[in-house]
Amino acid sequence: MSPRLEQVVRELTHWREPSVADAAECLRGLPLSAEDLLAWTDFEHPSWHSYGRRMIHEAAGVELVVMSWLPGDRSAIHDHGAAQWGAVRVFGPLEHAVFRWRAGRLSTIERGPVAADAVIPVAHGLVHQMGNPGRHPVLSLHLYGGGDAHAGATAGARIWDLHRGEVQRTDGGVFFGLDERQIIEREGGLEGDFPTTLRNTVDLLLRLVRIRADPAARSWGAVDDQIESIVRWLYADETHARAQRELAEPVDGGELAREHLRGIWAGERVAVARALAGLADVLPPDLPGYLGWPDPTRPDLTRPDPT
Ligand SMILES: [Fe+2]
Repeated sequence: MSPRLEQVVRELTHWREPSVADAAECLRGLPLSAEDLLAWTDFEHPSWHSYGRRMIHEAAGVELVVMSWLPGDRSAIHDHGAAQWGAVRVFGPLEHAVFRWRAGRLSTIERGPVAADAVIPVAHGLVHQMGNPGRHPVLSLHLYGGGDAHAGATAGARIWDLHRGEVQRTDGGVFFGLDERQIIEREGGLEGDFPTTLRNTVDLLLRLVRIRADPAARSWGAVDDQIESIVRWLYADETHARAQRELAEPVDGGELAREHLRGIWAGERVAVARALAGLADVLPPDLPGYLGWPDPTRPDLTRPDPT
C-alpha cells in the first residue's frame, strides 16, 4: 500500500461519527492519484459484474473500495444499505445520475457528467447510479461508513430493477442482472416513470449482450430469454403508447416541473437511441417508433458523442 493510502486507513480507524461532509472533505483533500490505486484495479472483472470492485480496507463498519470502470460499465440504480455516510472521488470522467423513490415510484432527478477528480457526497438513502460512458477505463475511490460492524458498511444495499419491477437487497456489488444467489431479499411492485424505466431496461440489455458474448459466461442463467423479453418490450405497441402518453403528459406525482421531466426524457432518449443503434445484431433494423424519425423530437444521432 502506498504511504498516502496507509495514512488514510490509519486516519479512518480513529474517526468517530463523521458527517457526509467530513467524508467528502477527507477524499477531496487526499494527495492521491490513480497511480496510488493501481494495486486494486479490477479491469479484468467478469462480464456479469457491472464494474470492478476491490476492497482496500474494511473494519468496524467502514469500507474503502476501489471501483474499476471499463468503457460501458455502469452500476445498477442503488443505495448503500446500512451506510450512514460516504463519498466518492473519481479519477477520470464518469457519469452520475440521481433518482427519487417515492410511494413505490422511481424518477430520474438528474443525470450528467462528473469531471475527473470530482468528489460526490453520498448521504444515507441516496439513490444513484454511476457509469463510464467514455472510451477509457476510469478508477474511483469509495468511502462508506456508519454501517453494520459485522455485515459490512454497505450491507443490505438496495437495487432498483425496473425491468423486473422489484427492489432487491444485496451485500455485494450493485450489478445489473444480479446473480440470484446474491439477492438476499426482494420486493415487487416497483414502477418508474417512462424515461427512467426505458433507460434502466436498455442499460440491462447492454450488460446482458456483453455477458452473452463472453465464452466464460455460458452457464450463467437464461441470458437469451432475458434479452428476448427486453426486445419484445422495447418494440411493443403498449410501450410505444406509454412513451407517447408520458411524453405528452409527464407523470411524476406532481412534484417535479414538467420542463425538468421533459429535459430528462430528451437526454435519456438520445442515450437510448445511441445505445440501440449499436445493437444491430440483436435488434430489428429500425429503432422503436418512439425513438425514431419522423418524430420532431428525434434524437440527433449525427451529433458527436460529448464523452
Ligand atoms: Fe453508490
